[in-house]
Amino acid sequence: MAPAAVRDNSVVFAPRIQELLAREEKVFRIDATTVGVSDSRLVAEIVAARPVLSTERSVFKPAAGAEIHHDSATRTIRALGQDVMAGIRTPPPPARGLSGAWPYAATSYLRRWLFSSDPLPVSLLSKRGVTRSDALSRIADRTVAGWPGLGGGEGRSTALAGQIHGASGAQERMQAIALYRRATATLCDGVAALAGNALWLMGPGRPPEDVRTDLTAALWETLRLLPPAWMLFRMSGDAYTALHPEIRPEDRIALLPLLMHRHPDYWPDPLEFRPERWAGVADPENAPAFMPYGFDGARCWAKHLIVPLAERLLTAAFDHRLVIRSPQQQAHVPLRSLLSVRFDAQTGA
Ligand code: HEM
Repeated sequence: MAPAAVRDNSVVFAPRIQELLAREEKVFRIDATTVGVSDSRLVAEIVAARPVLSTERSVFKPAAGAEIHHDSATRTIRALGQDVMAGIRTPPPPARGLSGAWPYAATSYLRRWLFSSDPLPVSLLSKRGVTRSDALSRIADRTVAGWPGLGGGEGRSTALAGQIHGASGAQERMQAIALYRRATATLCDGVAALAGNALWLMGPGRPPEDVRTDLTAALWETLRLLPPAWMLFRMSGDAYTALHPEIRPEDRIALLPLLMHRHPDYWPDPLEFRPERWAGVADPENAPAFMPYGFDGARCWAKHLIVPLAERLLTAAFDHRLVIRSPQQQAHVPLRSLLSVRFDAQTGA
């Protein structure tokens, strides 16, 4: 296996990400209306300065013309948690589904694993071809809303689909449909990105036994070095102007965990992939200058599901001798809202 630091250097970031990584200042202007921040204290202050606006939220932004009520949001997370835990206990789908272009192969595999028990057309909501297009998503939403056979149904379906079945009234139903689509996409895309980034950092073949036996540490180290949620936005507002002279009321702010997680003040040999940094760390999230799931005030509601599911996915991959076929040396990380290394992999099973 190539030395860890070389593996990280072998990632070729999209030029715009590379430019950000090259910035030495911790507060800097990215363009006329965007200020980048990687100073961990200032990031924490910004997150705490005001609650996230409903329009800034991702999964729980308004749907069907109305805000998502807190109750409905917590029911969604609870249902998602049940489905993930049930999935983790279920044997994975045939391993050939893991072969192909990552992270997409992993996204589809996770959808199949966790949500394929849902009846058509509910399962259509989570198909990648659908979730990538707003127009197709709207069509899928309307199809599910008007489908006559979804009134409770026979057979097994997920707890998340149960939220659609159990909705009272047209608006609640449309919201439950949107939440199903957003929650399944956020989960499967995010965990696939994390697992793919971990596979790349671990090396092209079978990772050494010590990494395999502590996949949790390898995943925390991946969340540090290649965090899927690498850039978080806050829209403009007066709440931030007092916090730093560079920030004007009309600026939006880009919080940059990717940069923060590589700062030598906090991380010795920051560019090295060293899972052993996390050995014996009881609560990784309390590590200073580390925010793979955000900071207090807007912390990820699904964070307890991510590492366990990624660990299960990687175990399935190793059990079936998944190896990276190409590229051998330099993998591309495109400019996307989720940071993910692109490669082709194949199972040996
Ligand atoms: C690998 C997967 C995921 C990662 C890396 C991740 C990461 C994050 C991060 C960094 C934040 C802070 C955002 C900010 O401050 O702007 C956040 C917030 C949040 N995440 Fe996640 N997340 C993941 C999956 C999910 C899933 C599957 C759900 C639910 C279906 C979810 C629900 C939320 C919620 C509700 C918030 C709070 C912000 C809000 O109120 O909308 N996340 N997440």
